Amino acid sequence: MSDNVKPVFKPNKEFAKTARIKNMCEYQALQDYAMEDYEGFWGSYAKEKLSWIKPFTNVMDESNFPFVKWFEGGKLNVSAQCIDRHLDSRKNKAAIIFEGDRGDKQIVTYLELYYNVNRFANLLKNEFGVKKGDRVIIYMPMILESAYAMLACARIGAIHSIVFGGFSADALRDRIKDADAKVVITADGAFRKDKPYMLKPVVDEALSGKTPVEKVLVVERNGEDVTWVAGRDYSYNELIKHQPTKCDPEVMDAEDPLFLLYTSGSTGKPKGVQHNSAGYILWAQMTMEWVFDVKENDTYWCTADVGWITGHTYIVYGPLAMGATTVMFEGVPTYPDAGRPWKMVEEYKINQFYTAPTAIRVLHKMGENEPAKYDLSSLKVLGTVGEPIDPPAWKWYYEAVGGSRCAIVDTYWQTETGGHIVSPLPGATPIKPACATFPLPGIMAEILDPKTGKKAEVGEGGYMCVTRPWPAMIRGIWGDEKRFVKSYFGDVKKDGKPVYFTGDGANYDEDGYITITGRTDDVINVSGHRMGTAEVEAAIKKHPNVAEVAVVGKPHEIKGEGIFAYVVLKSDTGVADELEEIKAINRVIQKEIGNIALCDDVVFAPGLPKTRSGKIMRRILRSIARGEAITQDISTLEDPTVVAKIEKMVRG
Ligand code: PRX
Repeated sequence: MSDNVKPVFKPNKEFAKTARIKNMCEYQALQDYAMEDYEGFWGSYAKEKLSWIKPFTNVMDESNFPFVKWFEGGKLNVSAQCIDRHLDSRKNKAAIIFEGDRGDKQIVTYLELYYNVNRFANLLKNEFGVKKGDRVIIYMPMILESAYAMLACARIGAIHSIVFGGFSADALRDRIKDADAKVVITADGAFRKDKPYMLKPVVDEALSGKTPVEKVLVVERNGEDVTWVAGRDYSYNELIKHQPTKCDPEVMDAEDPLFLLYTSGSTGKPKGVQHNSAGYILWAQMTMEWVFDVKENDTYWCTADVGWITGHTYIVYGPLAMGATTVMFEGVPTYPDAGRPWKMVEEYKINQFYTAPTAIRVLHKMGENEPAKYDLSSLKVLGTVGEPIDPPAWKWYYEAVGGSRCAIVDTYWQTETGGHIVSPLPGATPIKPACATFPLPGIMAEILDPKTGKKAEVGEGGYMCVTRPWPAMIRGIWGDEKRFVKSYFGDVKKDGKPVYFTGDGANYDEDGYITITGRTDDVINVSGHRMGTAEVEAAIKKHPNVAEVAVVGKPHEIKGEGIFAYVVLKSDTGVADELEEIKAINRVIQKEIGNIALCDDVVFAPGLPKTRSGKIMRRILRSIARGEAITQDISTLEDPTVVAKIEKMVRG
């Protein structure tokens, strides 16, 4: 398959017959409707899809752009949207199917979900005094209680902020402090590859200094011993027993915050991306319906972790808002072997399967022929997310997993967009491998030339932008209005007005298809996880021997991008033991951020290429790491000879 001329795969005709959007004419009609009457489009969906306690009076107010308000006057509760409204017709339907690492299984119906979430909400409210607007940190494994905790917060109007379980104590502490959270919900730990791993000790370490946290709720999962701080730590398993099964949902304004989720930017510390209630849940539900086309009796599985935005929108909120059956999996896809996901697809008759290119590459590499051993005929839609997928992985996914019969939806979006913004529609869009295709109806996504603000020409490339606010758009960065405006609305203007810039580059092909080419800023994408080079550099700098450091991304066969660090040590006497020094650097990263940010390559450089004003020329370092020719003019550098020296060290 050539990368330039991409073959086109038409939607499966049988599938298209019953799809919600059946062909490109229907797609275009929806997009035209949104273009002609933007507020009419969104207002009608908000009325149809959401269960309002009190109807909204105004669809959108952008007079204070980029601080936009949607569905003002409306009152609702997101947990009621996800649970209560289904009780009449879906009481006994499976809401969540859980499978543990070791194969333990549990099915939770919508009625059981209602009881569990209500109890959890009562626990937070009555035992811990959590109130509307309070921030609650969730540092949990992939277990049912994580979903209950999110929905319980939503029920009482508390703002949850999930911290991915792979983050270190220091990273957790930073987020707790930034969010000024008074409660942490965690677990003793969980299981991975049949072995217990721990989370509670990380929380203990995070809380060892001064923090705003008053109470810690600990869910028992692996039963390992944990230390207990009297008056601070409480057992979920004990407290939950006494909680009533009814907790009236808090009446929330459409624009009341629902959650914060910290993500990396190109500079400084991670930013607490804020999503609010009505707009977020509306788009989570609409994209579930359009992009995965989940039907009433379908079983849907997204393999993400709840610690990332994909887990928020497409394991918990989106599927439950539409009343679907969603699968939650604690384990890793390659354990006990690379047939695990396909075994689960067969067993649960999964109809939609959504994962990241990294997982596809690993499963392809470790178990090319595994899919053929299982009955995967239930599959209808396959999804990918988080990074560009390479054509060989796409081909294997399409043929070996999807039997050349399933649509692949290459969904492009980010933490800040709340839900998909550019994606194929499985019954309508003729797909091209590794191509996110077209903006979803209602989303005014365009590739713009950053200099002129005009639509990019075919093949020219430009910046991926959204030119009108949409309901699930980020509402702010917690505690930092200026950074919010500067991060997203400073770089590109259309017709003189600032527009939302995603930070990604993209291009149109001759058929108008959008391909995402990757970040244009200093953010790298490791296994589909966003990592700010500045964050990794700040961590490495904490090593006492390090004088200077520059971090860049380098293509990696499995992870998409790996982390490549150029380190200048304080003493110039050379490195006695390189391996030991690299290990020491990685230990600092482990402590500051977590294992997800470990370096794949470390080079001890004699200096870094800098301009005379002291700016590190990362583009040169990126070219060297990638083995590409250096095209930049290096004559203006403070010390041009350093480039040749580094090149020699890296390329030999
Ligand atoms: O660079 C884009 C890449 O992932 C970034 C968003 O990362 P995060 O906020 O962690 O959310 C990941 C899950 C939505 C984007 O700025 N990205 C996401 N989806 C795609 C992608 N790159 C290419 N193709 C995609 N389908």
